[in-house]
Amino acid sequence: MTTGLRSGLTQYGDAEFSLFLRKAFIKAMGYTDEALTRPIIGITNTASDYNPCHGNVPDLIEAAKRGVMLAGGLPMVFPTLSIHESFAFPTSMYLRNLMAMETEEMLRAQPMDAVVLIAGCDKTIPAQVMAAASVDLPSIVVPTGPMSVGHHRGEMLGACTDCRRFWAAHRAGTLAEGEIEAVNERLAPSVGTCMVMGTASTMACLVEALGLALPGAASATATSADRKRIAEASGARAVAIAKARHPKVGALLTDKSLHNALVVLQAIGGSTNGVIHLTAMAGRAGVTLDLATLDRLGREVPVLLNLKPSGAYYMEHFHHAGGLPRLMRELADNLHLDCPNVAGTTLGEVIGKAEDVPGQGVIFARDKPLKSTGALAVLLGNLAPRGAVIKQSAASKDLMSCSGRAVVFDSVEDMAQRIDDPALDVMEGDILVLRHAGPKGAPGMPEAGYMPIPLKLAKAGVKDMVRISDARMSGTAFGTIVLHITPEAAEGGPLALVESGDVIRLDVPGRRIDVQVDENEMARRLATWKKKPPHRPLPARGYARLFARHITQADEGCDFDFLMHKD
Ligand code: FES
Repeated sequence: MTTGLRSGLTQYGDAEFSLFLRKAFIKAMGYTDEALTRPIIGITNTASDYNPCHGNVPDLIEAAKRGVMLAGGLPMVFPTLSIHESFAFPTSMYLRNLMAMETEEMLRAQPMDAVVLIAGCDKTIPAQVMAAASVDLPSIVVPTGPMSVGHHRGEMLGACTDCRRFWAAHRAGTLAEGEIEAVNERLAPSVGTCMVMGTASTMACLVEALGLALPGAASATATSADRKRIAEASGARAVAIAKARHPKVGALLTDKSLHNALVVLQAIGGSTNGVIHLTAMAGRAGVTLDLATLDRLGREVPVLLNLKPSGAYYMEHFHHAGGLPRLMRELADNLHLDCPNVAGTTLGEVIGKAEDVPGQGVIFARDKPLKSTGALAVLLGNLAPRGAVIKQSAASKDLMSCSGRAVVFDSVEDMAQRIDDPALDVMEGDILVLRHAGPKGAPGMPEAGYMPIPLKLAKAGVKDMVRISDARMSGTAFGTIVLHITPEAAEGGPLALVESGDVIRLDVPGRRIDVQVDENEMARRLATWKKKPPHRPLPARGYARLFARHITQADEGCDFDFLMHKD
């Protein structure tokens, strides 16, 4: 096997000439032959002025380069796509697979013996791991890390659970004049990722649980010295795995480590998005995420982490309480402790060294959990033949088993136009339904599942309603919200057939979501639906056309069908 500069030579028909030319060009950067004989460690540069969650990437690159050079390697930084949640039209999920494709091809095209993947905002870690799993290169993930907490009128706050709480209060007219502007300045007080247990924090915890990042890498704040030390250590470790050519992603992302990640997902109060991304990441390594297993673990593994939106604290408090190694020690009975990690040890060794922090109130003991069940439940029923997900740890207890009249919105645009209309026929106890917001229908499965409470109900003090959709929801959000209904409406799933006024029954304890309409009537509606033109025409060109043709459903990770693992 070729390594270093000799790997992946540009094809001129003469390998020695290709190498000669490559060296001639790279020497323009001032490298010596001595430098060019070292193991090459690629380092992704996802810094972007549009991405404050990656605002510390330049610092982390410097630290990772230092680690690589201290260990005798040659760091080579290269740019890739960068995606921020609030700067991605129509939605960041639409671009995740593009980033995964682009990163995969750059990992293949450029010579490197290992790669340091630096990312953090929701879609960027999944995209990079999908890429690295497909290439199966020795890889180490460095999350950019969470923001520090903000403070407002004596309370801690942060992005973006508190963004939603304050915005809901602003909509309901209960905030003082000018307060929403003051809050806007304080929700994101530093660079880094959202500091609640949103999707970014969830994915950082999951890559650490999978063994793809160093112990402790999930939780150190973006601006801390710890974060830079993690980057330096990751650079040094990358040289070791490059020399050993092991472990590659496929050696770490296995059935057993996926099981560990699902246990962690349940115990941290993790984001529903984590299910989709884990499915896609594991799928690239030929490992299948089974929704029934996720649900079973949700019954066995309680939420132990006291972080918003399920609890009270933020990621920096988690870090100071011992971080993921300490949390996983509480979960040891459910974990495969022999799983290896990129640090060259096992999970058992990692949790054996976990720190006990006296008096901390962030990581709860296994026998005294924050919540008696796990974060997520998987629902089936005549509305979701291939499944749906609810974050039960952030839902209202009194709505977990209820029936209500459907109020249907046919698209995100339809909802935006009508939700606050005083004439909307909606009352407390109804169930809001949003469709054509799935992977294909929207397109890109936007985080529109957190439908706002209709203004007239919000003003009357209604704080939560059952909301169901084929969309996703930000991991920072809370409420009784059923997501990822599969198949989606745009694919002719039963959600497409629901009419306003139908009665929907939600039964989280029984794991059911059903519309109470008889089968004959549903068959009649389906026959009518099939005669309708498609909700959206196939885009004429470009990535939009590729996306529409090849995007898979939520239970397949919303990967492109042609990028999924093939034996
Ligand atoms: Fe990037 Fe929340 S917007 S992590």
